[in-house]
Amino acid sequence: MQGKSERSIILTGATGFLGAFLMSSLLERGYQVTVLGRPSKTMRLPERLSVLTHWLNIDPGERLSAIEVDFSKKHLGLDNKVYLNLCANAGKIIHCASDTSFAERNRNRVVNTNVNSLLSLLDLVVDGRAEHLYYVSTAYACGKCEGICMETPVTTRSFNNVYEESKAQAEEIIRRSCEANEVPLSIVRPSIVYGDSKTGKSLKFNALYYAVKSISFIRDIFINDIRQGRRRSGKWGFSLDDDGLLYLPLKIYLTNRGSVNLIPIDYFVATFLDIIEHPGTNGIYHITSDNPPDISTLAEYCERFLGVRGIQVLWNQSGKNTNPNPAEELFNKLFEQYRPYLSDNRIFDQSRTQTLTQGAPAPLFTYDIFEKCMAYAVACDWGNIRGFPK
Ligand SMILES: NC(=O)c1ccc[n+]([C@@H]2O[C@H](COP(=O)([O-])OP(=O)(O)OC[C@H]3O[C@@H](n4cnc5c(N)ncnc54)[C@H](OP(=O)(O)O)[C@@H]3O)[C@@H](O)[C@H]2O)c1
Repeated sequence: MQGKSERSIILTGATGFLGAFLMSSLLERGYQVTVLGRPSKTMRLPERLSVLTHWLNIDPGERLSAIEVDFSKKHLGLDNKVYLNLCANAGKIIHCASDTSFAERNRNRVVNTNVNSLLSLLDLVVDGRAEHLYYVSTAYACGKCEGICMETPVTTRSFNNVYEESKAQAEEIIRRSCEANEVPLSIVRPSIVYGDSKTGKSLKFNALYYAVKSISFIRDIFINDIRQGRRRSGKWGFSLDDDGLLYLPLKIYLTNRGSVNLIPIDYFVATFLDIIEHPGTNGIYHITSDNPPDISTLAEYCERFLGVRGIQVLWNQSGKNTNPNPAEELFNKLFEQYRPYLSDNRIFDQSRTQTLTQGAPAPLFTYDIFEKCMAYAVACDWGNIRGFPK
């Protein structure tokens, strides 16, 4: 490491989706990036980063270094010398690592990672007299709030899942610590992030991708069934047209009309860099879409991309389908955790963010972008292709 400078950044979460793309752009802009992370089951951290930089098509040269840490331990589990050296280099710190599971069964793990492990990270901020802390939160830290969600601290105590709850708790702990220690803080809250709007490239295939993958999985089951004598599909009227289109009656019931707030990773990164490179960016920043697609539009995109017809979005009070066919049963099961985000009526205020971006909005989520992203996902088998960064 070369000593603290304006261009030194410590980054956590670089082996994840948002962190990897952030790392790439920071390196391209000439920052000296120190990644704090952990090994995978098969690779040490430096090897993981070299697989990633290869995949990202960047040559970081000497500007990237990696330190294996354990966020649950004092001084990040580092020996004294390495810790002091890290402190001496703590310029800007971006905390992007997080457990992104929504599942209640993972509550302990999520709370340990997202809340309890902040202690050692915040010690580093203070011990290293960091110049600025950037915390990657989520627009959904606002929980079950309604109406206009402002770029202000979370006030609700009611959440859709443990992930939202832990991110709200984390925001509060980080805010208090930074206030007490007079460390400038930016809390950045993206909505749901998909791949690059120009290339389709993505590292993770959850949320929107998971819906498309689930329907493509269901499609293949019933195409096979029809080809093998219609044992399951006959009763429910599933059929294959002469032109190969599958008629798949799939009703998705929701309680209200609304949209899905999606932004591409390139917009997230560009806006994040605006925040980092603008002096005096203390505060909370929403990186969200002000023209998000509704679920019916996404269902149409999905039909067109997968060669199916029959997907319908319907609304009733319970948001439940009382007599689901096997395809609907399977879809509901696979997609249950994402339901709170499918019909969102909230508006995410972006006043503070827009002062930096001159009001440049997130790109409109057109079929062209959808197709590019899904084609990329299919080409790499939803991240399962050999050699894909894990
Ligand atoms: N993706 C989205 O749509 C979205 C939307 C809004 C906000 N966010 C926020 O953006 C940030 C990044 O999300 P993401 O989608 O990039 O997540 P991700 O792909 O799941 O990556 C999570 C990152 O956190 C690291 N991590 C998780 N648990 C850890 C632990 N116990 N110790 C050390 N490192 C740990 C992971 O390391 P390993 O690789 O070693 O597991 C990985 O680098 C998170 O703060 C998330 O809340 C994401």
